[in-house]
Amino acid sequence: MKVTVFGTGYVGLVQGAVLADVGHDVVCVDIDAAKVAALQAGRIPIHEPGLTPLVQANHAAGRLHFTTDAAAGVAHGDLIFLAVGTPPDEDGSADLKHVLAVARTIATHMAAPKTIVNKSTVPVGTADKVAAEVRQALAQRGADIAFEVVSNPEFLKEGAAVADCMRPDRIVIGTASAAAERQLRELYAPFNRNHDKIVLMDVKSAELTKYAANAMLATKISFINEIAGLAERLGADIEAVRRGIGSDPRIGYHFIYPGAGYGGSCFPKDVKALIHTAHEVGFVPEVLEAVERRNDAQREVLAERIVAHYGGQLQGKTIAVWGLAFKPETDDMREAPSRNLLAALWAAGAQVRAHDPVAMQEARRIFGERADLTLCDSPMAALEGADALAIVTEWKQFRVPDFNRVAQALRDRIVFDGRNLYDPAVVARHGLAYESIGRPKFSPM
Ligand SMILES: NC(=O)c1ccc[n+]([C@@H]2O[C@H](COP(=O)([O-])OP(=O)(O)OC[C@H]3O[C@@H](n4cnc5c(N)ncnc54)[C@H](O)[C@@H]3O)[C@@H](O)[C@H]2O)c1
Repeated sequence: MKVTVFGTGYVGLVQGAVLADVGHDVVCVDIDAAKVAALQAGRIPIHEPGLTPLVQANHAAGRLHFTTDAAAGVAHGDLIFLAVGTPPDEDGSADLKHVLAVARTIATHMAAPKTIVNKSTVPVGTADKVAAEVRQALAQRGADIAFEVVSNPEFLKEGAAVADCMRPDRIVIGTASAAAERQLRELYAPFNRNHDKIVLMDVKSAELTKYAANAMLATKISFINEIAGLAERLGADIEAVRRGIGSDPRIGYHFIYPGAGYGGSCFPKDVKALIHTAHEVGFVPEVLEAVERRNDAQREVLAERIVAHYGGQLQGKTIAVWGLAFKPETDDMREAPSRNLLAALWAAGAQVRAHDPVAMQEARRIFGERADLTLCDSPMAALEGADALAIVTEWKQFRVPDFNRVAQALRDRIVFDGRNLYDPAVVARHGLAYESIGRPKFSPM
């Protein structure tokens, strides 16, 4: 099928490549000329496991094209995906300017019927706004061309985006149009062979499903972080509690890891946007507001712990930081808890030596050259001349460090672990003090 995808970010690029890989003829359009030029030259602007060979192979096979030419993009696809960003506006609502701009672009150039498929995460009612925008632009041209706007939210996880798109656990389609449903069933048939993963519903429910999914996951994280805070104050161990509740199949082990708070480009903005939507309809979202407040506080916990350990005085101290990305297997640092940590350490006068397996370039772009930040090539290099170690991202590379070397390198011999990666007794045995989330503090043995 002929497909056009507007937006070549984490969602659009992966979706476009995966659709091309099963044989669809895909054109990806982006307004970022540098990104498009890179993609045309086979360079992938983001880190996503498995994405580079997938894009290169399908580009070489002639099934995946990249362009800034919106008119050509609109002419190509019978199905046109919207996968542009929906960043938070100043009031926390989702900013729809990119989505509506693409809607206008489609209406300006379309010469035949189109099915517009919205993959961006957008508030309930956005499909109607997109339809109104298209209708208005068509009317201005004096054109009368049929179109449909379908909601098809994306549930991929950064760091596993290719695998998630190739083997989705559900394909939510919101439409009342039998013709659009048929088109999408045909498009997704290669991903729907084992059993029917399509969950068909009305447009508004599909739009709300995406927010409900992210809000539920964020709730689980804030819940376990709240219990971790309690465990610390009561002398309990959150890791024991986590295993104790996770074994209940009604609760499950997923997404109940205590830590330095959730981040990334989705949970914070989507929880915020859903809260905003609730207030717009005069409904107080008690749970969601608490989820957000808990997370805002949790993102400061690691820094507070370090600052408290040093009595508020970090002048002359150097803190090694392992992990900058908001989670492993991505270079995405949008709303990453590491950014809260670094800001607080700098505010207290500390020097930072940081390492991340893939987000170093992104860190350089975000922070620029700073006298109080040294980006290091390896975890061990970050420890050179450091007083303490803080861990913010649970990369596999950090799971089994040589604790003897860590202990020798750190002047103050203390590890602040924002992801509970280690057995405290093991760390302590190597002569290191250890503070983690929701567990008793350990002194060196
Ligand atoms: N990142 C995720 O894990 C994820 C998962 C599910 C859903 N989503 C949602 O998908 C949407 C896209 O997210 P993302 O992370 O891929 O964003 P992104 O910021 O990585 O990419 C968006 C891309 O859209 C391009 N763009 C903006 N305006 C454009 C226009 N008028 N025409 C063509 N291209 C344009 C930008 O240049 C950029 O390359 C968001 O609504 C997000 O909430 C994201």
